[in-house]
Amino acid sequence: MRLLICGGAGFIGSHFARIRVREHGDEVIVLDKLTYAGRRENLRDIEGEPGFRFLHGAIEDREAVEEGIAAGGAGRPVDAIVNFAAETHVDRSITDPDAFVRTHCLGTNVLLEAALAHGLRHVQISTDEVYGSIESGTFTEDSPLAPSSPYSASKASADLLVRSYVHTHGLNASICRGSNNYGPNQYPEKLIPLMILNALHGDRLPVYGDGLQVRNWIYVTDFARAAGCVLEQGLPGEVYNAGGPDEEPNIEIVRRIVGQAGAGDELIEHVPDRLGHDRRYSLSSERVRALGWESRVRLEEGLAQTFSWYEENRWWWEPIRSGEYRRYYERQYGRALA
Ligand code: NAD
Ligand code: DAU
Repeated sequence: MRLLICGGAGFIGSHFARIRVREHGDEVIVLDKLTYAGRRENLRDIEGEPGFRFLHGAIEDREAVEEGIAAGGAGRPVDAIVNFAAETHVDRSITDPDAFVRTHCLGTNVLLEAALAHGLRHVQISTDEVYGSIESGTFTEDSPLAPSSPYSASKASADLLVRSYVHTHGLNASICRGSNNYGPNQYPEKLIPLMILNALHGDRLPVYGDGLQVRNWIYVTDFARAAGCVLEQGLPGEVYNAGGPDEEPNIEIVRRIVGQAGAGDELIEHVPDRLGHDRRYSLSSERVRALGWESRVRLEEGLAQTFSWYEENRWWWEPIRSGEYRRYYERQYGRALA
């Protein structure tokens, strides 16, 4: 296939791009705005592969999107757009929501218009957070949308735009909703890499509230493969949930990381809770399983691999820790950890 992967320099998008190039021989064009979370380094091992191209641009920029669609060359547009491009951190959406609305609503709309104009397939990468919080049981694709944060509300808006293009214009589009991803190359504002790097440095580990919030963890390559199944086999207008095999309270994740670092529990510091914090997420993935997908990596193995990756790849995160991230960290945690 010839794919335009939007947001392909980010955490999940770069794993998806690598799998498509290496395991499927796809021609891949990555279109990415390179926000603080987007990094060419995430793609450096596939940059030289035949058929791979990187374009620096935003999905809300029509010209950049048109360039991406045409970038495969030979006068033929790409076959499909896979949209990972997003602002992805819930905490930042609480203090600074504008970019979330711009990218998720305006940006997705530009992609949908382009997909329609060129007759392309569109896969929208979405999140379990659009369903809101669930105390017990699991969300299915038919659960109502009840997003809690500006992040999840704008992601849900993007999903509804996709739905409207399918309904109104018959666009060949599907949605893939993932649970909490973890693994190599995740920006260290997110729970697992933040705790790993802090533990490696002997810094305190800021757990929001009581730490008993539960997340449904999925290893990043498992989710990337689920997105691939949806791309290849998903039906137009259909939503596919892809949740991980393990649910765990945050505090248990943090304790596992403390153990892996050989540190002590005294590093753990309970700090004020996130505003509007969702208590639990849980996804049923029966529909994507029916397409032949299975998760392969359990939390214990995946967390150990992730810990080792961060230990061994200082070149990747050292430049992050000294830049914008420092200022963000100070704003987000400075007072609570003072
Ligand atoms: P990330 O923050 O690591 O990467 C996002 C990428 O999108 C970055 O490379 C960034 O530069 C790019 N980007 C942002 N705005 C853009 C714009 N306007 N135009 C072009 N590029 C833009 O995020 P991630 O964790 O890899 O998430 C990827 C997608 O998966 C998102 O849509 C997210 O909502 C979804 N998702 C993430 C998780 C998770 O746990 N990380 C779970 C479920 C779904
Ligand atoms: O569920 C899918 C979503 O998972 C994705 O759509 C989002 O893009 C992704 O960021 C993630 O959202 P969360 O808010 O669940 O992830 P985060 O890593 O920010 O937080 C995970 C849990 O850990 C959450 O309950 C908040 C808590 N937490 C997080 C941080 C950063 C802490 O207790 N302390 C922290 O410092």
